[in-house]
Amino acid sequence: MARPHIEFIQSQWLHWETLPQNANIGPVRCKILSIDQNSGECSLLINFPRGFQHQLPHSLMWQEHYVLEGDLSIDDHDLDADCYVVVPQNKSPLITSDIGAVTLSFFSLQDVSVHDQNVESLPIHVTYTPDIPWSEEGIDPDVQYLRLSHKTLWNHGKDTGERTILLSMGAQTHPPDWQLPQLFHPCIEEAYLLGGDIITERGTMHQGAYFWRPPLIPHGPFGSRMGSLSLIRLTEGTHENLWTDDTVSIDPHRAYNLALPKELRRWVVSDWVPSNAY
Ligand SMILES: [Fe+2]
Repeated sequence: MARPHIEFIQSQWLHWETLPQNANIGPVRCKILSIDQNSGECSLLINFPRGFQHQLPHSLMWQEHYVLEGDLSIDDHDLDADCYVVVPQNKSPLITSDIGAVTLSFFSLQDVSVHDQNVESLPIHVTYTPDIPWSEEGIDPDVQYLRLSHKTLWNHGKDTGERTILLSMGAQTHPPDWQLPQLFHPCIEEAYLLGGDIITERGTMHQGAYFWRPPLIPHGPFGSRMGSLSLIRLTEGTHENLWTDDTVSIDPHRAYNLALPKELRRWVVSDWVPSNAY
């Protein structure tokens, strides 16, 4: 069973809980943003306590971590806020944290056949994301009313466009007359809003918003009041923009219209107001 459609949830609504079984990264608490109950693949917020120290066990899961706050060391790599790291499968680094950390983390079973070299020899990949230049290359002109630019954090090794990116959206953007056809993709799209806001046809996403969108689900159009920075993962299919015939409008004052599995609906807080908390 694949992951259910989640669009969208504010991570502030979720409770800190114990780690799912296949995401063994030591004695930490996490918020489960989405999980595939069969494969164990999952997307989490992880809260590493002060003084954390743990040797990662060998696992088939690949790990991606984006540091939201605090400090984290993975072997001899020292990471702080806005660092992004990929730990390939079967690595067993020592993970430590002096002051504690909160990370946005992804555990996935990737297709290792796409890599030229033996996966065992792939290094741990670390990037300080502010050092990557912004690019507008390859952005569909039909969505550039949003003044988008992106940074590729990790290319998943295929020619389908499957990758992990940061996406920036301009402030005070919206489509002409606040309406457009919707777009959809043949791949899974997953996103976490690192900062700012995104006005959607389902209501307004604020910092900490997360969605898991299976392929071919129409979405948008979009806008933003203050601008936004999102981390987006495009997986399991080709990333291309396809468009519906029908036009949909957006409204910054629209109430939430969520697509959530039953077990997540109980977390929804209808009178929640945005804050900086995770
Ligand atoms: Fe999309």
